[in-house]
Amino acid sequence: MAETKASTSPNDVVPQVVGVLGGGRMGSGIAHAFLLAGASVTVVERDQAVAQDARARIERSISASIDRGFHADAATLNASLTVATSATAFQGAELVVEAVPESLELKRVALRAIETQLATSATIASNTSSIPLGQLAEALTQPSRFIGLHFFNPVPASTLIEIVLCKQTSDELPAKARSWVRALGKTPITVNDAPGFASSRLGVALALEAIRMVEQGVASAADIDLAMELGYRHPVGPLRTTDIVGLDVRLGIAEQLHRDLGHHFAPPRLLQDMVAAGKLGRKSGQGFYTWPDSPTTDR
Ligand SMILES: NC(=O)c1ccc[n+]([C@@H]2O[C@H](COP(=O)([O-])OP(=O)(O)OC[C@H]3O[C@@H](n4cnc5c(N)ncnc54)[C@H](O)[C@@H]3O)[C@@H](O)[C@H]2O)c1
Repeated sequence: MAETKASTSPNDVVPQVVGVLGGGRMGSGIAHAFLLAGASVTVVERDQAVAQDARARIERSISASIDRGFHADAATLNASLTVATSATAFQGAELVVEAVPESLELKRVALRAIETQLATSATIASNTSSIPLGQLAEALTQPSRFIGLHFFNPVPASTLIEIVLCKQTSDELPAKARSWVRALGKTPITVNDAPGFASSRLGVALALEAIRMVEQGVASAADIDLAMELGYRHPVGPLRTTDIVGLDVRLGIAEQLHRDLGHHFAPPRLLQDMVAAGKLGRKSGQGFYTWPDSPTTDR
């Protein structure tokens, strides 16, 4: 089931016309990845101001990639990006990736809006971190073209994409999706639909235990992180990772997994209190660590 490294072949190409619904942290990163791989990308946001913010963020990422040595002309890539405020802009897309906030109802409405605009041959993907794909697939009239493409944050720096299959996914789609992932220069893993898939379930389990250890005074956040970084060769410890992902995002996933998988995913009181106090990690400037250089608008 697993592939351990990306081995791109000339047959691995991304769809040429791609849509992304939601141009926030993840949607912007996903758009950037497809643009660098040569696709035309349309990002649809909820209003004009947010759409323009998304454009500015993606253009900054393109420019940063070129500064880091990616060979491309910024003006050409920027011209391949369209931002819009209605799903009608997805007409003609071969693939649309949904990246709106982690809410079952919001995503179901979004998926229905996407499907009405697409040809029957087009693929619809969700970037959900934890909602069972089968529950999202119920929103679609043609769920065989539905798949999870779980990108990681920050998208440009992460080489993993978790491909999630629901029971309705067609037999041909997994191989096609793995080929797209390789064409993006990333490595696919393939996971059957289950709460939290592979990555969120394991990542959140570790983080929740680390938070309980801080809560119980077992050790400081920095020392707990060092235990995993030096003792187990994790590049970043579970509490710093939680700060980077966002405490609110992790709380949302824990609540979902608590419902689906049981008490060992119950969110610790400390996590709930920190989110209620606005300590969301890097994006708010304070979490288990202080992030002095991160403006609240940082994405
Ligand atoms: N942040 C992470 O680390 C991370 C990692 C992997 C997956 N995810 C998943 O990706 C998805 C998006 O997360 P995010 O962190 O990018 O959130 P975000 O809040 O940064 O972005 C969501 C965007 O969706 C837009 N939006 C909301 N409703 C919309 C609508 N009806 N139509 C169009 N746009 C709409 C918002 O304006 C916002 O810009 C979630 O499902 C999340 O679980 C997040």
